[in-house]
Amino acid sequence: MSTSAELFALSERYYLPVYRPRRIVLDHGKGARLWDREGREYVDFGAGIAVNALGHAHPALLAALTEQAGKLWHTSNVFVSEPPLRLAEELVEASRFGRRVFFCNSGAEANEGAIKLVRKWATAQGRTPDRRVILSFRGSFHGRTLAAVTATAQPKYHEGYEPLPPGFRYGDFNDLAGAEAAMAAGDVCAVLVEPVQGEGGVTPATPEFLHGLRALCDRHGALLVLDEIQCGMGRSGHLFAAHAYDVVPDIVTLAKALGSGFPIGAMLVGEKAAEAMQFGAHGTTFGGNPLAAAVARAALRELSSPALLANVARQAQALRDGLAAIDAEFGLFAEIRGSGLMLGAQLRAPHAGKAGEILDRCVDHGLLTLQAGPDVLRFVPALNIGDADVAEGLVRLRAAIADFVKA
Ligand SMILES: Cc1ncc(COP(=O)(O)O)c(C=O)c1O
Repeated sequence: MSTSAELFALSERYYLPVYRPRRIVLDHGKGARLWDREGREYVDFGAGIAVNALGHAHPALLAALTEQAGKLWHTSNVFVSEPPLRLAEELVEASRFGRRVFFCNSGAEANEGAIKLVRKWATAQGRTPDRRVILSFRGSFHGRTLAAVTATAQPKYHEGYEPLPPGFRYGDFNDLAGAEAAMAAGDVCAVLVEPVQGEGGVTPATPEFLHGLRALCDRHGALLVLDEIQCGMGRSGHLFAAHAYDVVPDIVTLAKALGSGFPIGAMLVGEKAAEAMQFGAHGTTFGGNPLAAAVARAALRELSSPALLANVARQAQALRDGLAAIDAEFGLFAEIRGSGLMLGAQLRAPHAGKAGEILDRCVDHGLLTLQAGPDVLRFVPALNIGDADVAEGLVRLRAAIADFVKA
């Protein structure tokens, strides 16, 4: 059997070096725990970047996957099969606003589809290309394809990829007056926003901001697109973040927890724009793959259950209380914020910029979690995580921070 060091050497030799993974090789998982090749056990507060919403090796997902694996893996969209049709029906019903669904394979692709759809819709409204601007917000993250990364209003993701596609404008997040000014010319055809910014620092939109964007879109004949790729599928304590805010969007994009570890993305489109794309307007070979759809259906069933959503609220409170207790001891955090089980702890000076170092200590103490930029520790555990795993993760976090502070 190869050692972790040997496997790590392979990654350095063969992968395009766009990632900088931690120097452990994960081997298997169960629930909110993971084990590496050497048998070391970790509490998982990162869930594969908010993907494994039901933890690792969930029996209902395993059963759905293995049952479908014996039947039919892939058809292409030249044919239909039942799992993606049922998934579309269930998502539309659960969303309370959706009318049609387009399936794809990732978050970036879901947003790319939304960007294309709003442009098609605007074209059908008679808008000339100069009046098909998409407004997004600083600190956002919408994915890495060229259009999605252009909508991602963070210069560090743009550098070197110019020329970027035209027709994008940026405003400040949670600045409604700024959004109003950015839309004043009437040339914005859609607003793309994360109800809770994830990569940009785990920052929830204020209710006034999201409701205000809805009103601005209505006033200017623009579509409201919610990127729920990270904050959706139960993470906020509601199946859709739109429900948590009581905002009715025109489009919602989903991925990550939708397949709870199996790659699948989706764009849900409401009545207003449901007919914007017709035959041949868009497509993808793998989208709505029966295997992915079968797993997503099983995940959706679990993630919609009142007991699971109640657990999100319960564990979010436990995590917030634990973080507050750690802060009371070490005075490290300027703010603890987020929504449901999507929490961020903003580091205060002189610890700002040190999130990566703290995460290294967490690994040493058997805790895997994330950062959102250099200044924010991010916690996005499985939504079905139990009391004991949250408590143990907090014990390990405290130990890691004690080490960090001592050094
Ligand atoms: C809010 C949001 N949108 C889009 C994406 C892109 O998703 P993917 O990496 O699956 O392309 C992410 C990924 O982190 C995300 O958090």
